[in-house]
Amino acid sequence: MPETSAVVKNLLRWYRQNARDLPWRRSANAYEAWIAEVMLQQTRASAVIPYWKRWLAALPTVGDLAEADLDQVLKLWEGLGYYARARNLRRAAQAIQENHEGRFPERFEDILALPGIGRYTAGAIASIAFAQARPALDGNGIRVLCRVDGVADCAERSEVKRRLWNRAEVFVRHASRTGKPTPSRKQCSPNPCGDFNQALMELGATVCLPRRPLCDLCPLRRICRARKNGLAESLPNLGKRRQSARRNHVAVVLRKRGRFLVRQRETKEINGGLWEFPSNEVNAGDPGGFQWLEKVWGQPPEALRILGEIKHSITFNRITLKVYAAEVRRGFGRLGESYRWILPGELERLAFTGAHGKIVRWIAASRCDCGQNPKIFREEGTL
Ligand code: ADE
Repeated sequence: MPETSAVVKNLLRWYRQNARDLPWRRSANAYEAWIAEVMLQQTRASAVIPYWKRWLAALPTVGDLAEADLDQVLKLWEGLGYYARARNLRRAAQAIQENHEGRFPERFEDILALPGIGRYTAGAIASIAFAQARPALDGNGIRVLCRVDGVADCAERSEVKRRLWNRAEVFVRHASRTGKPTPSRKQCSPNPCGDFNQALMELGATVCLPRRPLCDLCPLRRICRARKNGLAESLPNLGKRRQSARRNHVAVVLRKRGRFLVRQRETKEINGGLWEFPSNEVNAGDPGGFQWLEKVWGQPPEALRILGEIKHSITFNRITLKVYAAEVRRGFGRLGESYRWILPGELERLAFTGAHGKIVRWIAASRCDCGQNPKIFREEGTL
């Protein structure tokens, strides 16, 4: 394996010269670092920037987040996906108010005990905001370590993960010792632990790419085992990837006297607290999937017009969502408490799940004609 000191020295030097100027890197505030780290899970830094800025403008302190309405928090998160993260941020802020007098805790164990914070986020906050020698390995960091050390074992196995985390800990402890100024080393970072962890992730995000890594630009190219053995493109070994499944959903945009029917997802459901148009999954062999609608509405499905189609992926599911629209003139059974008829202006104030947020934008674009003059919308992509 390459020498610890060589990996740390080269990475830190590279990071100081090449780190992207991301707004949260200008801040030493633990709350701001926390929000950034949680947003950065599953989302690229460039996409996070506007969300992070908007969030901090609206909720600048832990106290503001603890007291915020869940609807406001979800609206600020709308489009980032994995909404449990937003709900957990609010719960954790409430726990900080209650147990730490509103100050973000500095002790690693206290950080780790907060809702929604695992060892990656705790390590990132402890190292970046409090200069502690704690490792923080995300998917990018794991890829870099597997390649540098030439780890060919499956990185999904718990024993391999443990080895990688131990190695990351050795690195960050070594980095912490490079931070103390000595007569021969006048220029050094005030926070080599935070810098080292971010350098590892930064290298993975910008140079040590999953496919076609830019090895010629890499500060570790001379010591990287994978490169030496011609394995850079084939590592890390992530085992057999799960096959994605195709699924079909339908949604209906129903309008009655200018109001739209929407439903709030229950807390225990995926995307709990978010809003959507009535929708459900259609099983294979089921031509329409509107039997439930007929029951409450008493109308045959022919009364619906197609409004558009959205193809998107959520984890291992590739979903085709067909969207229909109709005017409701009469009839409609009793709806549960989670349903509401709302005015078009209100649609834009509520936080919708990703695909249904697109429907809201279609409605605005077609001036709410609700499929009277059908314009078929089609969208594809990952939400
Ligand atoms: N990914 C997640 N957190 C990051 C950070 N602080 N720097 C670079 N990439 C990241």
